[in-house]
Amino acid sequence: MRQSKTLLLFAIGFCCVMVSEGACNRTRYVQHNGVLVVNSTISSQVLNASGVTSVEACAMLCGMKSCSAAVFWKSSDLCQLVTVSREPGFAGNNEWRLLGSETAEAVVMKLENFEELMKPRIINVTRVFTNNGTGRIGSVQLVTIDIAGCYRIQLAGAKGGDNTYVSPDELGGRGALAAGNVSLSVGVQLSIVVGQAGGPSQSSGYSSGGGGGGSFVYRTSNNELLMAAGGGGGASYGYS
Ligand SMILES: *[C@@H]1O[C@H](CO)[C@@H](O)[C@H](O)[C@H]1NC(C)=O
Ligand SMILES: *[C@@H]1O[C@H](CO)[C@@H](O)[C@H](O)[C@H]1NC(C)=O
Ligand SMILES: *[C@@H]1O[C@H](CO)[C@@H](O)[C@H](O)[C@H]1NC(C)=O
Ligand SMILES: *[C@@H]1O[C@H](CO)[C@@H](O)[C@H](O)[C@H]1NC(C)=O
Ligand SMILES: *[C@@H]1O[C@H](CO)[C@@H](O)[C@H](O)[C@H]1NC(C)=O
Ligand SMILES: *[C@@H]1O[C@H](CO)[C@@H](O)[C@H](O)[C@H]1NC(C)=O
Repeated sequence: MRQSKTLLLFAIGFCCVMVSEGACNRTRYVQHNGVLVVNSTISSQVLNASGVTSVEACAMLCGMKSCSAAVFWKSSDLCQLVTVSREPGFAGNNEWRLLGSETAEAVVMKLENFEELMKPRIINVTRVFTNNGTGRIGSVQLVTIDIAGCYRIQLAGAKGGDNTYVSPDELGGRGALAAGNVSLSVGVQLSIVVGQAGGPSQSSGYSSGGGGGGSFVYRTSNNELLMAAGGGGGASYGYS
């Protein structure tokens, strides 16, 4: 006789006394066969609750804590509560997690829409920083990450100064462009230095423009450089 696989379905309903919508929120967990992989593209958190003696109690606890998945370890009465989120401010870590085990000693449960939650989403949180001074005056600008994820950083070095004393004008070189993707977790603060344009030549055609400043992005906490783009050279004396 063929035996069909049974799907454990945990339905946890809890009605709050004061819910204005009057609706009962039901959190549904389904069993996941094998190891559940949460990769580093999503922020996740695991909380160990000990002394949990049944898979139902573990699922209930998970529902109460609004967690996304749970692992119940039969032999050690351990219930691991897993939360994944892309919400701003969620203080999880972007790391690879292998939840559960290939052996039968662990039961892995996950929200019915777990795969939906895990789907990569592009959230447009574009921030543009420009130089906020002129010449030698400027300041380091700071940004603190509040949504964990993969960020694209595009940098441009500043243009070198022109020489306007010659005809036609001799133009300064353009700054370098650099771009790359980095994975950043919540709370990381980046320091941003935006290069400023080199000044023009000051007198006769024999003087040259100033070099453009470079642009840099580094982690504030340890000064680790993430990206840099050099500035353009200043225009030299040009024969006319
Ligand atoms: C539970 O109810 C609240 C309020 O109606 C709603 O915002 C939330 O999305 C519900 N949660 C689930 C998992 O359906
Ligand atoms: C939670 O339990 C797992 C499995 O026993 C263990 O590997 C992990 O180190 C525990 N985490 C914490 C924070 O105690
Ligand atoms: C991470 O997991 C999501 C959801 O399962 C998947 O769509 C994505 O391709 C995975 N990314 C990597 C780098 O493994
Ligand atoms: C994101 O927003 C920026 C600024 O509002 C815009 O220039 C850019 O086109 C947007 N990108 C996507 C993929 O929507
Ligand atoms: C330059 O950036 C700093 C730090 O973000 C800020 O405090 C300052 O007001 C900015 N200055 C200008 C002129 O925008
Ligand atoms: C970096 O992210 C952009 C989307 O912003 C994507 O088009 C590009 O393929 C990514 N590059 C790499 C090397 O992953």
